[in-house]
Amino acid sequence: MPRCQAPRGTRDLLPAERAAFARLERIALDLATRYGYQPVETPLFEQSEVFERAVGAATDVVEKELFRVHAGRGDSERERWALRPEPTAGIVRAYVQHGMQNLPQPVRLTLTGPMFRYDRPQAGRYRQFWQFDVEAIGDPGPGIDAEIVELGARFFREAGLRDVVVRLNSIGDGDCRPAYVERLRAYFAGHADRLPALERERLAADPLRLLDSKDPLMQALIAEAPTLTEDLCPACAGHFAGVRAHLDALGVEYQLEPRLVRGLDYYTRTAFEFFRPLEAGAQQALGGGGRYDGLVELMGGRPTPGIGFGLGLDRVVLALAAQGAEAPPAPHVTVVVVSADPADTVTRLRVATDLRAAGLAARADLAQRKLSRQLEGAARDRAHFAVICGDELSHGQVQLKDLEAGTQRPVNVADLARELLRAEGQHRHGPA
Ligand code: HAM
Repeated sequence: MPRCQAPRGTRDLLPAERAAFARLERIALDLATRYGYQPVETPLFEQSEVFERAVGAATDVVEKELFRVHAGRGDSERERWALRPEPTAGIVRAYVQHGMQNLPQPVRLTLTGPMFRYDRPQAGRYRQFWQFDVEAIGDPGPGIDAEIVELGARFFREAGLRDVVVRLNSIGDGDCRPAYVERLRAYFAGHADRLPALERERLAADPLRLLDSKDPLMQALIAEAPTLTEDLCPACAGHFAGVRAHLDALGVEYQLEPRLVRGLDYYTRTAFEFFRPLEAGAQQALGGGGRYDGLVELMGGRPTPGIGFGLGLDRVVLALAAQGAEAPPAPHVTVVVVSADPADTVTRLRVATDLRAAGLAARADLAQRKLSRQLEGAARDRAHFAVICGDELSHGQVQLKDLEAGTQRPVNVADLARELLRAEGQHRHGPA
């Protein structure tokens, strides 16, 4: 047994998995750039109040899952910080702090990075996980709502997940939601004898939470629960119709899901999630988001609408693996520099360093071993070429061996990088 292991609910991303994440990060950044979202970074930890205010003190994410950060002894600010469980709160805090309300609106921002939730670990549920997040702050919609949903759907397609479904709902606003919450409360209270203890407790604080319950005992009750769709106020109903019209015009398919709510408090109106159908066991969302028209004000800014999403990259990597997507090939070096004198690591490293400086993926064999062993190592690395340094180096020459063709010829050291770049191009594209 190793003495230390990664903490429960976290994992090491070894090269193959890290490469899968890197591929998704590239797709995310490329898409965000095409849609005009600018990358930002916010701290991995914030004042706890940022999350308590934004996400809501009575949510699972804050009540149970927040990693509170304790600084060293003697710190008078103890317990004031927490690791970010999600990025929206920090991004909106930064928007207000840096006066981004004075920029042309909306401000489109994106962030990809790790989030932390002290949750019960299981497949697809980690204590440290990665999100691709976008936020558009300062546009009341409904066009921007559709832009964001379409961007999320496109991300999954470009990543190679074929069957991701959009579930869409409107959860109303301060005008129409309170009456709905009371109807829900009465409905669930009428079935109090069928409620698990935890849900009975939640009923008092926030009946909407019960709609989000994953407890199998709740599913039949939830399926019969009242919905808000018919009772949206005229402004929310108009907005929701606008979102659907824009999505229809873009050809984005979606399922209306009148009992879809989100686990964070800041949402108003548009709420959506991305799912893959027919996954075994409890369904886990691959991503979710929605509108948060009261959040900027809650964080101390002028009233400003906003909308965004967060996509769970860990779950996308898992889904790709379940779908049998090919793992990206391990990168390999183009050139390995070897030499006849086992001890001459200086020459090998110097030549490889020059090749790297010229832009080639090169490695020096730094083990003090026979030339034949060095060449075997180059073949194992699937290198295309070996550069063999020997006595002729004193005349400015080395041997260039094409490991696939099995041919070998002398090359002037001064021409080596150029020769290799040309030969590498031919390897990749075939002879002209
Ligand atoms: P969320 O639904 O809490 O929304 O999280 C978004 C996604 O993060 C989830 O759909 C899931 O894929 C992934 N995720 C959440 N928790 C875990 C976990 N423990 N392990 C692995 N993956 C997880 C938000 O975070 C909002 N900030 C989204 C948003 C942005 N709304 C507006 N703007």
